[in-house]
Amino acid sequence: NDPNGLVYHKGVYHLFYQYYPDDIVWGPMHWGHDVITYMMKLEHKHIALYPDKNGLIFSGSAVVDVNNTSGFGTAENPALVAIFTYHLMEGEKAGRKDFQTQGIAYSLDNGYSWTKYEGNPVIGNDGIKDFRDPKVFWNEKESVWSMLLVAGDHLQIWNSPNLKEWEQVSEFGKNQGAHGGVWECPDLFPLQVEGTDAIKWVLLISINPGAPNGGSGTQYFIGDFDGKTFTSDQEEHKWLDLGRDNYAGVTYNNTRDNERIFIGWMSNWDYARDTPTEKWRSAMTVPRSLSLRTSNGNHELYNYPLPNFESLVDKASVAQDIAIKANTAHTIPLKAGNQSEIRFTTTARDFVLSFENNTKDSLAIAMDGKNKVLTFDRRNSGLTDFKNNFASAVQEMPIENLLEGEVEIRIILDASSVELFINEGQYVMTNQIFPRDTYTQLEFLNRSDQEIKVAEFSERSVQRIWE
Ligand code: FRU
Repeated sequence: NDPNGLVYHKGVYHLFYQYYPDDIVWGPMHWGHDVITYMMKLEHKHIALYPDKNGLIFSGSAVVDVNNTSGFGTAENPALVAIFTYHLMEGEKAGRKDFQTQGIAYSLDNGYSWTKYEGNPVIGNDGIKDFRDPKVFWNEKESVWSMLLVAGDHLQIWNSPNLKEWEQVSEFGKNQGAHGGVWECPDLFPLQVEGTDAIKWVLLISINPGAPNGGSGTQYFIGDFDGKTFTSDQEEHKWLDLGRDNYAGVTYNNTRDNERIFIGWMSNWDYARDTPTEKWRSAMTVPRSLSLRTSNGNHELYNYPLPNFESLVDKASVAQDIAIKANTAHTIPLKAGNQSEIRFTTTARDFVLSFENNTKDSLAIAMDGKNKVLTFDRRNSGLTDFKNNFASAVQEMPIENLLEGEVEIRIILDASSVELFINEGQYVMTNQIFPRDTYTQLEFLNRSDQEIKVAEFSERSVQRIWE
């Protein structure tokens, strides 16, 4: 499940993840390990972290200890340090509340082999049942390491000079944000508000259940961080992705030019254990670049595929302009199979895109400009009955701040997922699908009383990134 230990080091982007090697359903957790090169090729590595006497290895993060504050490495060869949650099954089964603690491990060969710290756990537990998912980052304001930890219904921030000794400095969120479920997988980082010099801090909190379209989802808060405390006067609930399958996402540490790169897990605890897959269980989103923009006086977090994703897309096929008459459907044959990018721009606000195959599966994405809502209907998209809550309802995404004029619609379609980006990531929906056959045509229905123009429509194949 979750992406873990996202860190850039010595030319590669590490992607560790929650992994149970013996089955495709969730079980005793390890950290699996992949690396991604700058050109988006992915390579599997050995398992990085195995359970030990302190427990299973739940989610967490990784940092490059450049100043060797931990003493694990040297100035010439700084250690990669992983910070994770230990989950002690025996404790949980015995009905205790103190079974989640935080541990660390280090690697001196860029993530290939790992040594657990003998002083683990570095943070114990005074009886908080859900106490997990440490995200550590270098805190320039205080020249210390900061750790974000979730504690049931809120966030805690801890600081440390050396990654081994930690002190709690603040908490956030008991009375703010959505609280339909337990808080998980926090992240906190600064972003410059585009077009200004202002810096705001963004807090990501995964929540399960309690997402707007059901089950697991990721909310965010925009605010300020003084080195110890995060504050936000945000009253409304904000969500990073309104689809049902983008959870537990966090961002990379140590990237070049401070680029904020996000990866999420494409599933939902409502049905993650039941999806009709063989040999594999679930996948990650494409890496996305996060940015802060202002629309109608509101700060909004955009998420959009990294520019390098373009290197995977076949540029040979030409884009076409299409005009569709009022209340008419136009059928576009799809050639690239379910591993493609579909892209166009339009000023239209009232249309339905239906992906169809020869088995009569149909996936419908509809924009309703009058009611300012976009709907995603996977009820007939393919296999859906493996769990009753997978496709029991049409998903809705309010698009209140979508301005008039030309907008880009971009869809990344894979064998079992759809990543939909409206207006360069202002509105995003990520969803799994299990069509019985490849979609072979796209029906573009103009629901309005005027002819619409679809500009630069393209459907292009996307290369696979691993063998
Ligand atoms: C989120 C999560 C984390 C936990 C991990 C266990 O999906 O529940 O809170 O650390 O998965 O696999």
